[in-house]
Amino acid sequence: MRSILIFLLVSLLETHAIISPPNALLEISAEIFNNWRDTRKKFMDSMKHPMGLPHFNCSRPILDSATSVHQLHPSQIDVIAALGDSVTVAQAAKSSSIFEILEQYPGISFVTGDDVTLNEQSTLINMFQKFSPRVKGGSSDRIRKFYDFNFAVPGSFSYELPDQAKKLVKTLKRRLGTDNSKKWKLVNIFIGHNDLCQFCNNETLHGPETFGNAIRSTLFIIQSDIPNVFVNIMPPINVQIHSQAHQVSPFCELSHKKTCPCIFELDKKDYKKIKEKFDEQLREITNEFNEKNNDSNDFAVVIAPAMDLKSIPLLDNKPNVGLLALDCFHLSPIAHDVAAKQIWKGLFEPIQSKTITNQTSVGFDRFVCPPTECSFLRTSKNSVDCEPPKNFRFLPILPESSTVGMNMPSFLVPAFFLMGSVLILLFVRASFRRPSSEFSDERQYLLLPMRRADLNDNIF
Ligand SMILES: *[C@@H]1O[C@H](CO)[C@@H](O)[C@H](O)[C@H]1NC(C)=O
Ligand SMILES: *[C@@H]1O[C@H](CO)[C@@H](O)[C@H](O)[C@H]1NC(C)=O
Ligand SMILES: *[C@@H]1O[C@H](CO)[C@@H](O)[C@H](O)[C@H]1NC(C)=O
Ligand SMILES: *[C@@H]1O[C@H](CO)[C@@H](O)[C@H](O)[C@H]1NC(C)=O
Repeated sequence: MRSILIFLLVSLLETHAIISPPNALLEISAEIFNNWRDTRKKFMDSMKHPMGLPHFNCSRPILDSATSVHQLHPSQIDVIAALGDSVTVAQAAKSSSIFEILEQYPGISFVTGDDVTLNEQSTLINMFQKFSPRVKGGSSDRIRKFYDFNFAVPGSFSYELPDQAKKLVKTLKRRLGTDNSKKWKLVNIFIGHNDLCQFCNNETLHGPETFGNAIRSTLFIIQSDIPNVFVNIMPPINVQIHSQAHQVSPFCELSHKKTCPCIFELDKKDYKKIKEKFDEQLREITNEFNEKNNDSNDFAVVIAPAMDLKSIPLLDNKPNVGLLALDCFHLSPIAHDVAAKQIWKGLFEPIQSKTITNQTSVGFDRFVCPPTECSFLRTSKNSVDCEPPKNFRFLPILPESSTVGMNMPSFLVPAFFLMGSVLILLFVRASFRRPSSEFSDERQYLLLPMRRADLNDNIF
């Protein structure tokens, strides 16, 4: 990486080419890049998207550990895990210069991002933390990159997914020990973008059947080796919609030529067809698993279509590139915030009527509390008939305490207000949030040296 950076610097000084990797496949003038950066910033500034959630006032039930995946409340989730590609580790999300576009920012990932509190940016884990304060799985890049239960790897194709699942299984066994059989896990899966970007180069290797087989093997591993698990699978975004950004900036076109070549080879219709086949695989396989596990109370898999965008949402009638990262490919922090809220909301929608974010609904759909009529994560069974367990009691709504670390036991909260020292607060909060014993040696080992996406890799 260092050598690439130096090379970039040198080429910037000498030739005005701002991205010029050694193979010189992508040469972009400083002017094009700067225009793109400014345009994107204008979109971001004019979005007025409310980040995070300033007032959390959902009621929280007091429940024993869940006995069935069909009666699973967010407060009963103990671990949030993620499998997938670079979108899930928030590649490029916070990049502010060309030198950072290959960085990952797992701390703000819409699934496991734990560097942000809910009143800064929503992520699935910080929403779950409000109900289940001790939930594990948060990832961070505050001091060093820390992935915890986020097993997504940038550049992954779907056929690499089963390996991620195996690592998850191993880590759960090691970290939870005998508790593994009691704790409830939510596993979020978001994969297939690299397959869609490379489909035209090998229709077998990156085709729907390979995708389907990978999902099937992955679910099989999860179902056999992870007790008490709710699997949330997001269909891949149709990468073809990225070409809408080409009308906003030539940078996007140049960047996509390198990172998602097939959107130049195949047209909208082709992509519609391919994407339908991917989606069909997903439907068939999830049905297959839910039928096979019809009598099981400890496994369920659900398709989460909330972010299955049909086009880039508009802002002033133009594709809203403020939702894209500086590489014009990945998601910006705003998009991670939207994704988290939409996926969260979808968890409580019956499987047959889940909503999909569209051009007009981005930003307008707000965070929802688990609905009182059925506050469980919806599965194929409770989507038909949602029966509450006996003894369902609610805690009173607490006053907002989100300036205090979310993992802090509530009995400590008054003490902190008394102390009133921001420095002490931050210090203690940091140690609460990331006790060093919680760091997964295995995960660090597996990722170091970390596999970096570089411009020759698949960008997703
Ligand atoms: C939560 O707070 C918002 C804003 O103050 C309010 O509109 C909403 O009704 C409240 N919800 C509940 C369940 O109290
Ligand atoms: C596509 O990938 C498969 C599996 O790796 C390989 O056997 C086949 O030769 C590839 N086809 C082309 C045209 O590269
Ligand atoms: C699953 O089991 C229920 C009864 O528990 C039954 O009514 C339903 O038809 C079964 N579904 C499938 C797909 O087998
Ligand atoms: C967009 O989504 C919103 C909220 O889910 C929905 O009310 C609206 O009908 C959708 N619009 C279109 C054009 O699908």
